[in-house]
Amino acid sequence: MSAAAPRSVIIAGATSGMARACAAVFAREGYAVALGARNDEENERIANDLRVRYGGTAAAIHFEAADFDSHEGFLTACAEALGGEAGGLIYFAGTMAEQRAAEQDFTLARTMIDVNYTGCVSLTEAFARRCEARQAGFIGLVSSAAGDRGKQSNYIYGSTKGAMTVYAQGLRNRLFKSGVSVTTVKPGFVDTAMTFGMKLPPALTASPEQAAEAIFRGVVRRRDVVYVLWFWRYIMLIICAIPEWQFKKMGM
Ligand SMILES: NC(=O)c1ccc[n+]([C@@H]2O[C@H](COP(=O)([O-])OP(=O)(O)OC[C@H]3O[C@@H](n4cnc5c(N)ncnc54)[C@H](OP(=O)(O)O)[C@@H]3O)[C@@H](O)[C@H]2O)c1
Repeated sequence: MSAAAPRSVIIAGATSGMARACAAVFAREGYAVALGARNDEENERIANDLRVRYGGTAAAIHFEAADFDSHEGFLTACAEALGGEAGGLIYFAGTMAEQRAAEQDFTLARTMIDVNYTGCVSLTEAFARRCEARQAGFIGLVSSAAGDRGKQSNYIYGSTKGAMTVYAQGLRNRLFKSGVSVTTVKPGFVDTAMTFGMKLPPALTASPEQAAEAIFRGVVRRRDVVYVLWFWRYIMLIICAIPEWQFKKMGM
């Protein structure tokens, strides 16, 4: 196992709207970044842009979230590109099929489960072992407020995020004694490709840049849970407080 690279991070799912903005914040702050994405051409474009704008190390490395057997090799390739084990990992990869379509077609549900949850666990467990071995590191898992309560409008996607949130809680407990932080990110609404075409209330919606700054601050300050816009914490507290007998009649 190679020694840790100082100030470095792996961004998994680097072509995501939020991830691009977040990679730019890390690069601006002097971190070397390893960008993992399945679209190699676009990933290389993003890495090149970061190198031009910030002058540091930015490496594009192929990452397929649902190819679980490739994840150890991906982390090794990242360590080679960064000149040592990455200081941190942030998992952005995610997919959200339309709920009604996923009810009719299990392959759509399965893809959400594979990418949002199983891929996250596979990659994060492999990274956690490396962090534990050197007793250092930070992990950010981009989950969702949709995982806080199952709703008929998106419960299959929401359940993948709920699982991710519980996973992050347990991992945080496990890694605490090793000096490794685990931050759960609940972005609320963010204006990205995932939400393109949805009628999001502007007052409740963050830009990818706002999300990126909040995620950067949260993970480097080793916070447990980060909401991008503060009031989402209270919105979800209220939604979660509605009794089940009433909630099921609300058609949310
Ligand atoms: N936008 C929101 O309002 C919102 C709210 C809460 C949580 N989130 C979460 O935030 C994260 C980032 O999403 P975003 O809003 O930035 O949306 P996005 O732009 O659609 O990003 C999704 C990312 O996941 C990648 N991805 C999908 N399947 C993959 C696979 N099999 N292997 C590797 N990468 C894969 C996509 O890659 P390609 O470019 O190749 O498709 C893309 O980079 C997601 O986990 C999402 O669930 C978003």
